[in-house]
Amino acid sequence: MCGIVGAISDRNVLPMLLAGLARLEYRGYDSSGVALGGAGGDFRRIRVAGRVAELTERADGASGTRGIAHTRWATHGVPSEANAHPHLGGDSVMVVHNGIIENHQPLRESLIARGYTFTSETDTEVIAHLVHAELQKTGDLLAAVRATLPQLHGAYAIGVIGRDDPNRLICARLGSPLVLGLGFGEQYFASDIAALLPLTQRVIYLEEGELADVRRDSVQVFSADGTKVERTARTIDVQPDAAELGQYRHYMQKEIFEQPTALTNTLQRALELNCAPEVFGPTAGAVFQSTPAIRIIACGSSYHAGLTARYWIEEWTGVPVSVEIASEYRYRQNIEADGTLVIAISQSGETADLLAAVRSARERGAIKVLALCNVPHSTLTRESDLVFLTQAGIEIGVASTKAFITQLAALYVFGVSLARARVSLPDEKLEELIGWLPKLPLLAQEALALEPELEAWAHELSHDHNALFLGRHTLFPIALEGALKLKEIAYIHAEGYAGGELKHGPLALVDEEMPVIVCAGKEAVPDKLASNLREVQARGGRVYLIAEPGCEALADGVHRVLTLPQSSGPLAALTLTLPLQLLAYHTACRKGTDVDKPRNLAKSVTVE
Ligand code: G6P
Repeated sequence: MCGIVGAISDRNVLPMLLAGLARLEYRGYDSSGVALGGAGGDFRRIRVAGRVAELTERADGASGTRGIAHTRWATHGVPSEANAHPHLGGDSVMVVHNGIIENHQPLRESLIARGYTFTSETDTEVIAHLVHAELQKTGDLLAAVRATLPQLHGAYAIGVIGRDDPNRLICARLGSPLVLGLGFGEQYFASDIAALLPLTQRVIYLEEGELADVRRDSVQVFSADGTKVERTARTIDVQPDAAELGQYRHYMQKEIFEQPTALTNTLQRALELNCAPEVFGPTAGAVFQSTPAIRIIACGSSYHAGLTARYWIEEWTGVPVSVEIASEYRYRQNIEADGTLVIAISQSGETADLLAAVRSARERGAIKVLALCNVPHSTLTRESDLVFLTQAGIEIGVASTKAFITQLAALYVFGVSLARARVSLPDEKLEELIGWLPKLPLLAQEALALEPELEAWAHELSHDHNALFLGRHTLFPIALEGALKLKEIAYIHAEGYAGGELKHGPLALVDEEMPVIVCAGKEAVPDKLASNLREVQARGGRVYLIAEPGCEALADGVHRVLTLPQSSGPLAALTLTLPLQLLAYHTACRKGTDVDKPRNLAKSVTVE
């Protein structure tokens, strides 16, 4: 994981490095650091075993006209100042790195044998020393980095600064993202455009294996073999203030309340095309008609979105769907039937396990890959045959909210499109399913209006140590998602269960101490859920029921109940997600946890 930023200019780059780093903290935030080079041979680094805010205080008064910076999510070595980046190579090179160097141990041993001393436990320090060693041979920083890269096995995005080379920075990538930002008289690079938005919207995405020589007035991209590559800059259509907190207390809160807009934006084109397969790309119609099976692969909340979609897709099209956790799929042996459509769901498009799973799927059969992704030009979208971009906008809070809801919307559209392409539903049914979509932003708005009651529930839950979430049908994955939200940001142990599984284990945990949060929808077998709920009540469990209208029968004798103003039919999985997000959010606020940056987690998991 980790986030990197670099900048070179005639003015002091420290403020832009720190501001960029703050926008990358979603990638990791257990330690941070910056290296600065200035006129007159100044060359220094400042590191803290803490967040960017702490680094900013520590760096007060420092300056430099070129620099690299890093925010870390520890993989090799504890979060400490010694392990924080940048790492020093010899005495004249510093490196920041995002990724993992798998052969760092033998490299470390051979560097020690050559007289290098290591001061950290990180894999990154080998890169710094290797560049230094190559620099002794060639005297040229670009050549030194180019000679180092083939020695590294694994994934990297790196930024390199040299003490004796005041006019350039070098950066390179393989397996981890890196984007160059083009300014006037100053140039930048970063793990994500979010870091660069206040500075520029003109960018070049580095491709796998490429490196770049970044100077004040120019950037030059090279392929791994050293050939110059001519690349045209593109202008990114993202508002510079998209990553600002505005009136909200936390990014997660802001992102929860942005969901009606995010849904409108995500659905716009699908509605214009009446959910025709072309929404997913010009060749989608032919792929959809012929695919014998669908395999959905994802991680975290994106996996829960996939689990939900299985109910829709199989019911509407009869095409068999399997949903897999990417880190499991990649190490499982199987053969994919020819023509299988692999749907890769990812907010970031950079999740290492997912990318590896998709690449491995291609080796298992003649498949097509459809990416559902929130980040244009991400590695996943670039490697996929078909793409649907969710329009959630930049999501900063580590816990997925608007990204998740727009994934659900995209998957619903996919189910309808597939049914259209395969003529598996009568026209009236298709029109009915599509007819729900324009109502969705309003339905979401209504669900968000339940916030005051959920705040009161959160007050109670904040005293609990455990919680169970129950749902059936499409609301079973939503129960999983509700439990995930509560554990990741409020640090309460929570489990999501399918209602029918209650009696196969979790019922043993139910007593007066156990809050049981139940999601009920009219199309999610409410009668069967009612029995599960009674089983909980009979053991004294405290039931918090969130229901659609029409499920009143379930409310009898429950501890607390909240009913949505109107039914959302097949979209109940979406509307019932929002109260669960608010419940987790307010519980976390009550507990005083760091909502946007929960401990030990990171948003974009670019390491295995
Ligand atoms: C991390 C995030 C989750 C996200 C998961 C998958 O764990 O905290 O919110 O669901 O990664 O990320 P992706 O970008 O592939 O959706």
